[in-house]
Amino acid sequence: MKVLVIGGGAREHALCRSLSLDPDVNALYCAPGNAGIAEVAELRPVDALDGAAVARLATELGADLVVVGPEAPLVAGVSDAVRAAGIPVFGPSAQAAQLEGSKAFAKDVMAAADVPTARSYVCTTPEEVDTALDAFGAPYVVKDDGLAAGKGVVVTEDRAAARAHALGCDRVVIEEYLDGPEVSLFAITDGVTVIPLQPAQDFKRALDGDEGPNTGGMGAYSPLPWADPKLVDEVMESVLQPTVDELRHRGTPFSGLLYAGLAITSRGVRVIEFNARFGDPETQVVLARLRTPLAGVLLNAANGTLDTQPPLRWSADAAVTVVIASHNYPETPRTGDPIEGLAEVAAEDGPDAYVLHAGTRREGAAVVSAGGRVLSVTATGSDLAQAREKAYKAVARIRLDGSQHRTDIAAKAAEGR
Ligand code: AMP
Ligand code: GLY
Repeated sequence: MKVLVIGGGAREHALCRSLSLDPDVNALYCAPGNAGIAEVAELRPVDALDGAAVARLATELGADLVVVGPEAPLVAGVSDAVRAAGIPVFGPSAQAAQLEGSKAFAKDVMAAADVPTARSYVCTTPEEVDTALDAFGAPYVVKDDGLAAGKGVVVTEDRAAARAHALGCDRVVIEEYLDGPEVSLFAITDGVTVIPLQPAQDFKRALDGDEGPNTGGMGAYSPLPWADPKLVDEVMESVLQPTVDELRHRGTPFSGLLYAGLAITSRGVRVIEFNARFGDPETQVVLARLRTPLAGVLLNAANGTLDTQPPLRWSADAAVTVVIASHNYPETPRTGDPIEGLAEVAAEDGPDAYVLHAGTRREGAAVVSAGGRVLSVTATGSDLAQAREKAYKAVARIRLDGSQHRTDIAAKAAEGR
């Protein structure tokens, strides 16, 4: 099978790594990719937001499957263009991707499908904003309606700050605060059949102890030893299957990866958000544990034959990933700094620990930072404590001027807290 992956972050590196280990994959391409992905896939330049260009590239390469990684191309209709060219694609249509592209649309789907989520108001005027803020009280949760790379959400006790964020957006969703640990649960679907993956937890805040601003995600781990073993079944029944069914009934079937961001509250599971693609950095730990070769699963989803997919097999190992971000992330990340220590990790810590590249590019013989999140250092071990130890040992070998990472990824879970 020839596979083309669209995107260039650590999620796409994780996808390409798994696909490169799949015996059914005999050619692997990534566009545009990054310096790390270049080691497992052939890179091609492309404007990932240009559906016609992506479809042309896939045709040229004779791709049997296109996997779209990030949300922006999905919302821009890249899957539709590839599908129209007659090539199977893993990733929803632009219309179905509105589940991520518009928080108001997601709320509407959830209401229709009776999926538990925070009560909310969609606001477009200062008066509506004030009414909504007062209806829920502190802590205030204000979300930009459109795509914002995980940074459009403000959760604050400060009413003035909440109001200011709301007034800076064209349209906002203001909602009830959900208290409780967060879980990311991914499901692969062809629009009818839904297959859940293993749950993971992401660390959204920039600093240790969940302090600092929201980011795209600073680390993740899987499995979740503290979670109810029935959690996946419960979310399948109350969230994933009803959402997939609702979108199909609307005539906009969702095929690809449905990401449920959940809060485990005292009153039960609630959806915080949906995404229409693999999560980053959760994918790094989920795929580290998946034993079933990936390409066939994604192709079954793309072809509408997921009902023929044998049950997925999982490793009993635990996985931890730690994101190394550039100086000043998430505000105004500095790029172009040389990264050292990559070869040492490969030589000393592999194969259980490895570096997935997020924002990197090659400059002559050097690899330099090229984004806010730069690397996603991933490790597996017999339990979370061991996976954590291996991941941080590898992190310590990496030298990137001004970089930052959290030191507490999976710490509580590893200690059984
Ligand atoms: P989102 O982009 O919707 O995932 O929001 C980013 C982060 O903001 C989430 O991962 C949560 O940590 C937080 N958040 C979003 N909605 C809520 C809510 N209703 N209550 C509490 N925290 C929230
Ligand atoms: N890790 C959060 C996300 O992928 O949206």
